[in-house]
Amino acid sequence: MIDLEDSGFVIKDVLFWVFLNGMPKSRDVSLDIDKELGVESKEIGNYKYVQGYKKGGSDSYKKGKTKYEAVSELGQKYKGAGLGVKPAYEPIILIQKPIPKGLTVAQNIIKTGTGALNLEETRIPLAENELAVGHNPHPKGRVTSNILRVEEHGDGYDKFFLVPKVRQKAQEFNTHPTLKPVELMQHLIKLISFENQIILDPFMGSGSTGVAALELYRQFKGFELEEEYLEISKKRLGIVEQNIQSK
Ligand SMILES: C[S@@+](CC[C@H](N)C(=O)[O-])C[C@H]1O[C@@H](n2cnc3c(N)ncnc32)[C@H](O)[C@@H]1O
Repeated sequence: MIDLEDSGFVIKDVLFWVFLNGMPKSRDVSLDIDKELGVESKEIGNYKYVQGYKKGGSDSYKKGKTKYEAVSELGQKYKGAGLGVKPAYEPIILIQKPIPKGLTVAQNIIKTGTGALNLEETRIPLAENELAVGHNPHPKGRVTSNILRVEEHGDGYDKFFLVPKVRQKAQEFNTHPTLKPVELMQHLIKLISFENQIILDPFMGSGSTGVAALELYRQFKGFELEEEYLEISKKRLGIVEQNIQSK
């Protein structure tokens, strides 16, 4: 956030994509203690699944990882102790280039077409049989908020945009390990842009942002470092372009 601000962007908000099924990522410090004391920790089996982000392509994630238990007395005292809690949200930082000096908000929108949030296209429809309440109920539903959820929690506050996490390998050829749901990217693209505008994703991975952008009739430009993921992106974008042309 500080780097973004130091680079000249204005931080408008932080949206939270909230979920309950986050993957704990904390390390077991008792094993560090064993290592520090020169004691060899005991092998107790294998982790079935390891999530993470690693150079070298998708296969490097799937290899099993050995599970260890601390052996030293101090290590045992700290067994299971870690360095962080389980993540239950992903922050989405909403930033904007500052409006050029001397321009009003309206003059900037007229000149560049950017800077306005597309609240009309991202309204959250009322649930079936839900009464339109509030001072000025809108026929299309409530204004989207800065909390997006993976599922309804039945806690009386399910008034948010719901977007489930995506199943990895939803398309067989897509081996990207941190695939984002196209529906999430569509919601964000709708929020920050209008038809025909350009969406740029400098870290496009397997191209979910591009797929969402083309489906919403936006133009798309993207960059990806890893050849393997670039090819997956090209394939996915090609499928969307074909679908659009055949409509
Ligand atoms: C979190 S992933 C994006 C996943 C994507 N949203 C999807 O749904 O497939 C980030 C991607 O950025 C790429 N990346 C990292 N540094 C980069 C750089 N300097 N230039 C271009 N791509 C980069 C990584 O290879 C990775 O595929």
